[in-house]
Amino acid sequence: MKRKTITYLMFILLLAVGLVTSCTKVGPAGPAGKDGTNGTNGTDGTDGTAGCIKCHDNSQIILAKSLQWEASVHATGGNFERNTKDCAPCHTSQGFLERIKSGADTTLATIENPASQNCYTCHDIHQTYTPADWAITTKSPVQLWISGVTVDFGKGNLCANCHQPRIPTPQPVVGGDSVTITSPYWGAHHGPQAGILGGTGGYEIGTGYANSLHTTVVTNGCVTCHMAEAFGTQADGHQMGMTYLYHGHEKINTAGCVTCHPAGLDVLISATQTQVLDLLAQLKTLLVSHGAMSESGRIITGKMSADVAGALLNYNMIEADGSEGIHNAKYVTTLLKNSIQALSTK
Ligand code: HEC
Ligand code: HEC
Ligand code: HEC
Ligand code: HEC
Ligand code: HEC
Ligand code: HEC
Repeated sequence: MKRKTITYLMFILLLAVGLVTSCTKVGPAGPAGKDGTNGTNGTDGTDGTAGCIKCHDNSQIILAKSLQWEASVHATGGNFERNTKDCAPCHTSQGFLERIKSGADTTLATIENPASQNCYTCHDIHQTYTPADWAITTKSPVQLWISGVTVDFGKGNLCANCHQPRIPTPQPVVGGDSVTITSPYWGAHHGPQAGILGGTGGYEIGTGYANSLHTTVVTNGCVTCHMAEAFGTQADGHQMGMTYLYHGHEKINTAGCVTCHPAGLDVLISATQTQVLDLLAQLKTLLVSHGAMSESGRIITGKMSADVAGALLNYNMIEADGSEGIHNAKYVTTLLKNSIQALSTK
């Protein structure tokens, strides 16, 4: 191509580009926009961290609660790899939040990247980015799986969702057929406390069932006793345990008890626990003699009458409860005495 032709073509190209750019010329400025609305976190819409620093301040409150929580079995237990649909609602934080939203007994799927129970499980952390986020994630009364009975422990309902008996399969029915137990792990699982405190879920053979006053007078149930003023990071507060070691022996932290029991508590505790442990030992002897339990306390699988299976259920529930009668002395002693009577006469 000739030089002259190239120059000519370039001239046309420049003309075309000029025409296009002149079409996108900027017009006169429009009217000013409206001011933005205030964010929920700041107070005046100018300081985005005003909400944050109401919690993330130098009060050390998050640190103190975190230290207690880190010493709790919720942080140290390590069983949150139990993340499949059946287990995740209680063993993972995400599964719990899914369940209290959906109302279902299981999660839809296995929870990936499971987290243990933590601040976000029990508080609405980082929802509005204001101190209102300290609200607990649920306070609704809980209909217990095992019996369908609804319990109401105020703030303790949060705990009752997870610390409730699971439905044993098969489930023995008073006066019903014999059952075949196929697993040595059969029972109502490890955390039946809401059933025990509520006085429901045991194998209620015989008569005379009643509840200890703890069922109704302790307004916030679990929280009143287990989350009273923290004893360092050893008990209560966000550590949530009731006992600590004192000069080598286990001591119950009574911070949450003293308003109702200003005196005489030690005697009351030891009388209650001694009686319950004694009844448990008697029932174990009978379960062993019926071939349902080994000397080491392990279930011997096989076919058994509803009463033997029911007594086994009661034994395991009361043992797993961990309070040795303190949660609901009347209910627990009646379950044990009636189970003992049923097995003695067989
Ligand atoms: C209700 C009190 C509260 C408010 C308000 C709040 N936070 Fe938090 N924040 C927490 C708690 C509790 C944790 C978890 C602490 C822990 O796990 O150690 C946390 C954790 C964090 C973390 C650590 C990473 C994480 O996600 O765990 C960051 C970063 C953070 N917050 C930033 C903010 C910012 C930015 C704001 C405001 C926009 C804010 N927070 C508002 C309570 C609050
Ligand atoms: C999301 C379910 C869930 C909630 C909610 C929950 N827990 Fe737990 N809790 C567990 C699980 C699971 C364990 C055992 C953790 C492990 O082994 O990994 C546990 C352990 C504990 C322990 C230690 C038991 C031991 O063997 O020493 C105590 C005490 C306890 N929880 C009390 C509470 C109280 C009180 C509340 C309510 C303020 C509560 N929990 C709320 C699931 C929950
Ligand atoms: C209704 C809530 C709930 C469900 C569902 C649940 N767990 Fe648990 N589990 C608990 C609680 C609460 C504890 C802690 C009890 C305690 O330490 O007092 C626990 C404790 C455990 C432990 C520790 C036992 C020990 O002796 O330290 C294992 C292991 C476990 N669960 C496995 C499972 C598996 C596997 C599944 C699913 C098949 C499951 N859990 C379903 C609430 C639940
Ligand atoms: C198992 C449930 C649970 C977990 C996990 C948990 N909390 Fe709490 N928290 C509660 C309950 C229940 C209360 C109310 C206690 C009361 O009223 O006596 C509470 C109260 C608080 C309060 C006082 C709130 C107020 O309104 O003044 C703070 C602060 C707090 N928790 C921080 C934390 C932090 C930080 C974490 C994580 C390290 C955490 N919590 C984990 C259940 C939990
Ligand atoms: C009246 C006070 C009181 C109430 C209410 C109460 N607990 Fe307890 N709980 C205790 C005491 C005291 C022990 C410890 C007994 C011992 O170890 O000697 C205990 C033991 C336990 C244990 C065994 C582990 C441990 O910390 O020793 C768990 C888990 C537990 N309680 C959970 C709960 C849950 C969940 C609720 C609510 C459904 C609840 N408790 C309600 C006083 C209470
Ligand atoms: C809201 C009040 C209240 C709180 C909190 C409370 N109790 Fe009780 N407790 C009672 C009442 C009422 C009775 C029944 C007393 C009676 O019948 O003479 C009782 C009875 C008992 C009994 C005897 C067995 C029974 O159930 O009748 C024991 C043991 C006991 N409490 C231990 C405790 C311990 C340990 C704590 C703290 C971890 C505690 N209580 C917290 C009100 C309370």
